Amino acid sequence: MAKHLIKVATVAPKLNKDSAVAVVITEKNSKLSAIENLLALGLTSEHELAKLGAKNNLDALTRVPGPNGSVIVLVGGFVAGDLDAIRHVGGSIGRSLGEFKQVYLDISLKNESEATALLEGYAIGHYSYDAYKSQAKRSVAQVCTLLTTLKLKPATLTRVDVLSNAVHDTRNLVSMPANDLYPQTFVTEVNKLVRGAKLTVTVLDEKKLSAGGFGGLVGVGKGSVRPPRLVKLEYKPVGAKFKLALVGKGITYDTGGLSLKPAASMLGMKYDMTGAATILNAIIAIARLKVKTHVTAYLCLAENMPSGNATRPGDVIKVRNGKTVEVTNTDAEGRLVLADGLSLASEAHPDLIVDVATLTGAQRVALGARYAGLMGDDSAVAVVSKAAKTAGELVWHMPMPDELKSLMNSDIADLQNAKVGNTAGGMLFGAMFLREFIGKKTATSNQTIDWAHLDIAGPADNDGAGYGYIPRGASGSYVRTLITIAEHCAK
Ligand code: BES
Ligand code: ZN
Ligand code: ZN
Repeated sequence: MAKHLIKVATVAPKLNKDSAVAVVITEKNSKLSAIENLLALGLTSEHELAKLGAKNNLDALTRVPGPNGSVIVLVGGFVAGDLDAIRHVGGSIGRSLGEFKQVYLDISLKNESEATALLEGYAIGHYSYDAYKSQAKRSVAQVCTLLTTLKLKPATLTRVDVLSNAVHDTRNLVSMPANDLYPQTFVTEVNKLVRGAKLTVTVLDEKKLSAGGFGGLVGVGKGSVRPPRLVKLEYKPVGAKFKLALVGKGITYDTGGLSLKPAASMLGMKYDMTGAATILNAIIAIARLKVKTHVTAYLCLAENMPSGNATRPGDVIKVRNGKTVEVTNTDAEGRLVLADGLSLASEAHPDLIVDVATLTGAQRVALGARYAGLMGDDSAVAVVSKAAKTAGELVWHMPMPDELKSLMNSDIADLQNAKVGNTAGGMLFGAMFLREFIGKKTATSNQTIDWAHLDIAGPADNDGAGYGYIPRGASGSYVRTLITIAEHCAK
């Protein structure tokens, strides 16, 4: 795993063969670094840049020789104040310069927000997953120094550290293959990750799940020799007024169950626990940052396998809130485990529930790999949209059309989990099903709890090349959106 230390300095560095200096392609004068003036190196005439093949693009880094064997890296320019672009540039630097022991960011920044965005991008982007490489590339410990006269608050650097760790820990957990990560070992990982954070952890094993009426988790998990778990994590700071509940889909592997997936669609289904990994690392970060919001996270963990003991298409299960579901497709398992999680979350009457799930292939078809589908109550959707915008993560509001409601009708149970032979609006149907398990605001109220659903089937896994601070593979996206929601709710 790539390790780094972030520093801030005003003095010019002593460069050597282990150093790289990132400078912006359109800036003529580099004020703080040893490269006093880029013009002196003949680097800023359009003609010279064109000859080098240098592009003014946020992902195109161009390396040219610098003083004392160092490397100067020309990075894309950005408009002042565009924090997303600055975060992206920082990410490209962190992602692409892993072999250097020292990286200097010699980039003019206007204020602390810009500096934070650059460092956040760098820290989140500086990542590699080599736990399973027998000959791991020896990752060098890197010191990244921001050259600036701006005064950064210590809390700013702490926040960068907490956020980037949360994103990296999410990617690590998501990348772990399913022969090693299953419900029980997921719990082991939870216990490791929460160390030192002020959280209480409660684990419901298969016996408690059966006794507690969690028919979704039990029904999905029973095809596997590795039984399901429900993990509840609670962070309750004194003086918090707002109660936020997070619910995550944690299918450690999704074969589809007896409604078996074709081979090509099954590959990558270790990613099906990304929702749970995302909310887990978000609540840990929220606790580390001491955000004044009461947050509870519910991880719905199961392995979806076909076997002689698996739930059959046509079986009826009973979920925690008492509703019965005819399982018309065992591959629509995420909504079944979330039904239990959402029911349990509702019992505590939180002010807002946000669930995160790699719920439908339809999400990826509709929105691709960079936008999450966002559905739910208008007010909850507004809260999530605003936080995502602040965090620089992409969500797109999708509707929940009434016309789909009747498609949930089952001949024999309260609901069916899938509309067989009808793929229209699959992502929307998933959200409509989940809504059935959102409880009331209070025991006597007839208003339902504010709720938003993030379908992250596409963006959980970047199956293309890396860009900005996103590597190929597990993205770690939406952890920062959730942290930001908790921060906004504290106000
Ligand atoms: N885990 C999948 C969704 C998924 C697909 C995530 C591709 C990431 C990439 C989910 O459990 C699933 O299989 N959903 C079915 C639902 C259908 C049977 C109603 C789907 O999308 O095909
Ligand atoms: Zn499935
Ligand atoms: Zn799934």
